[in-house]
Amino acid sequence: MQLILSSILLSVALCAMLAEPMLLRANIGARQAEVIPVVVGGPQDTFNPDSVTAAVRDIIQFQFINGNHTTTQSSLEAPCTPLGGGINSGHIPFQDGQTTVGTFNMVVSNADPIFMFWLVTHPPTSTGPHCQEGQVMIINPTGAQQVLDFVKAAQGTDKSIEGTAIAGGTTSQIELTNAAFIPAPAEAGGPQRGAPPAAAAPPAANATTPAVGNATEATNGTAKNGEKKKEKRHPVVLAF
Ligand SMILES: *[C@@H]1O[C@H](CO)[C@@H](O)[C@H](O)[C@H]1NC(C)=O
Ligand SMILES: *[C@@H]1O[C@H](CO)[C@@H](O)[C@H](O)[C@H]1NC(C)=O
Ligand SMILES: *[C@@H]1O[C@H](CO)[C@@H](O)[C@H](O)[C@H]1NC(C)=O
Ligand SMILES: *[C@@H]1O[C@H](CO)[C@@H](O)[C@H](O)[C@H]1NC(C)=O
Repeated sequence: MQLILSSILLSVALCAMLAEPMLLRANIGARQAEVIPVVVGGPQDTFNPDSVTAAVRDIIQFQFINGNHTTTQSSLEAPCTPLGGGINSGHIPFQDGQTTVGTFNMVVSNADPIFMFWLVTHPPTSTGPHCQEGQVMIINPTGAQQVLDFVKAAQGTDKSIEGTAIAGGTTSQIELTNAAFIPAPAEAGGPQRGAPPAAAAPPAANATTPAVGNATEATNGTAKNGEKKKEKRHPVVLAF
């Protein structure tokens, strides 16, 4: 009986010890500012998530996936037009093989809804129809219905306007391993919308990286293989 009782007590004590770090992480009590990641771009073709609830002083950390996106503030009335004096990250590219991810960190300064859309550069200059496809998000929406309304309003526009100056946040970088996404595989399922063309460049040749294929394949000079080999030699450009 005593043995059972002490086992129970020990279990309770262990559970309490394990639970403590979780409580700390949840910031129960005095709330600390949180960093809230939002992925811009990617296979899901919209902000992920497309709605966040943030407290004043929280930091929205936009993380830029494959392509060359912006995140730009607009309004419910003009979803694909930059809001005068609003937030704008400028274009932040992510190219296959990068080991860091460009971010745009925006401190939430009030509790009102903040409407955001994105632009993608499709070389040479077109911004693409992404906003018209409803690729928008809201920070602190009044409710789920407002997100639906904003998406629909964006779909009803006929063009997107490029923002001018970078404003309302700071650009930075994080390690890819710490990002909230896994980059799209370079050659899976055709070209990614928003990805640069011929985006099949894996990391620059690295002697310690296991070779893809084998010597027979590597020396097989068909046109397709030749192209792929050339792409592999593209340098990884970190353009921030
Ligand atoms: C990203 O887009 C901007 C604006 O169109 C352009 O100036 C920049 O060169 C692009 N960067 C890359 C790496 O494509
Ligand atoms: C080559 O790849 C290895 C393993 O992925 C990595 O540890 C090393 O830093 C790389 N070297 C260069 C020069 O990229
Ligand atoms: C190398 O690839 C060729 C063509 O795909 C294949 O026939 C051969 O068996 C492979 N050799 C090895 C050692 O994997
Ligand atoms: C070279 O590649 C082509 C297409 O992938 C294949 O049909 C051919 O058998 C290959 N030749 C050799 C020598 O591996």
